Amino acid sequence: MNVLLIGSGGREHALAWKLVQSPKLDKLWCAPGNAGIAEIAETVSLDPGNHQAVTGFCRENDIGFVVVGPEAPLVAGLADDLEAAGIGVFGPSAAAAQLEGSKGFTKDLCAEFNIPTAAYRRFTQAAEAKAYLEKAGLPAVIKADGLAAGKGVVIAETREAAEAAIDDCFDGTFGEAGHEVVIEAFLVGEEASLFALCDGQTAMLLGTAQDHKRVGDGDTGPNTGGMGAYSPAPCMTQEMIDRTMSEIIVPTLAGMHHRGHPFKGILYAGLMLTADGPQLIEYNVRFGDPECQVLMPRLKSDLLELMMAASQGSLLEHDAQWSDEYALSVVLASKGYPGAYEKNTPIRDVEKAEEQGALVFHAGTGRKDGQLVATGGRVLNVTAIAPNVAEAQAKAYAAADEIDWGNGFCRRDIGWRAIGK
Ligand code: AMP
Ligand code: GLY
Repeated sequence: MNVLLIGSGGREHALAWKLVQSPKLDKLWCAPGNAGIAEIAETVSLDPGNHQAVTGFCRENDIGFVVVGPEAPLVAGLADDLEAAGIGVFGPSAAAAQLEGSKGFTKDLCAEFNIPTAAYRRFTQAAEAKAYLEKAGLPAVIKADGLAAGKGVVIAETREAAEAAIDDCFDGTFGEAGHEVVIEAFLVGEEASLFALCDGQTAMLLGTAQDHKRVGDGDTGPNTGGMGAYSPAPCMTQEMIDRTMSEIIVPTLAGMHHRGHPFKGILYAGLMLTADGPQLIEYNVRFGDPECQVLMPRLKSDLLELMMAASQGSLLEHDAQWSDEYALSVVLASKGYPGAYEKNTPIRDVEKAEEQGALVFHAGTGRKDGQLVATGGRVLNVTAIAPNVAEAQAKAYAAADEIDWGNGFCRRDIGWRAIGK
């Protein structure tokens, strides 16, 4: 089977690394990929927004299965068009991708199917949203309805900040994503993520993880796409996993099926573990980045086989085997990220990190005259696996410190919540 992987981040490098281990794979293509992916797959510059170009490429190259990494092509209906063209695809239809594409859609589904989540209201007018603040109390959580690259959420401590966040959404700061606003109650607890592989009817646990969203040590500074992760998340005890599966994931799949939009692909539940149990903060319809980089090294089973079973509706006949060890990944980012940063700065000695036993998944990397260079904000994911989080952390940092990249930085405390638990 020839497979095309869509995406260019650390998530896709981790997926590519795992896919090429499959005995079912003949050739892996990746569009557009990065310098790390280019070492294990053939990269190609295809615009995932041009669905005709993608299906045409698949036909020309005898590609039988497409794995879509990021959410935007899914929300735009790439999976629907591939399926219509008779090409197998891993990832939900546009209708099912609304679970990530519209926060209001997900909140309404939760309300209809009794899925625990923060109390909320949806608004299309600033004045009504502001009037509701009186009732909502503080802090208020203000969210742009649509995809906003992780930037559409404001936790407002004051009435003024909440009103400003509402104005920002309706003034077009998030473009189309802000045409509707969701205001919800503030949940208190520890955050964790659970990943479920879904085939429309059946959900299979695909691991738990915790990310580090803020740029600075001690969870300070602005939000990022994620500065590091580990898996499994110790706070996700068997009881929490069971409750999340039965109270959140299973009713979501049943609800989507009931609505005529069965969900196939990865359902990534962002959870708050509150005093009343797990509550859904949000869904994503794809693997997390950098969470995927800590899930893949622990998965012993054939990823391609599992993805194909999810796509074909036959997950019940499969199960997944996992390593008992912990994986931890440290993101190396360009100085200045998540703000402006210099591009094309040289990176050396990645092999030295690998010689220490770490896996180095690339994100924003490229080659210039043969030299590895940083081309993005998040650039490398140095990932280690060990019997506990503390050892995985020590191993990941020892490896990261071998890398010679003057313009890079990382958080030094990835895993702090889990160490000592
Ligand atoms: P989201 O993009 O919906 O995941 O929100 C981004 C971040 O905002 C989450 O990871 C949480 O840290 C925080 N957040 C979102 N909704 C809530 C809520 N209802 N209560 C507390 N924190 C929240
Ligand atoms: N690491 C957060 C995300 O992938 O959305």
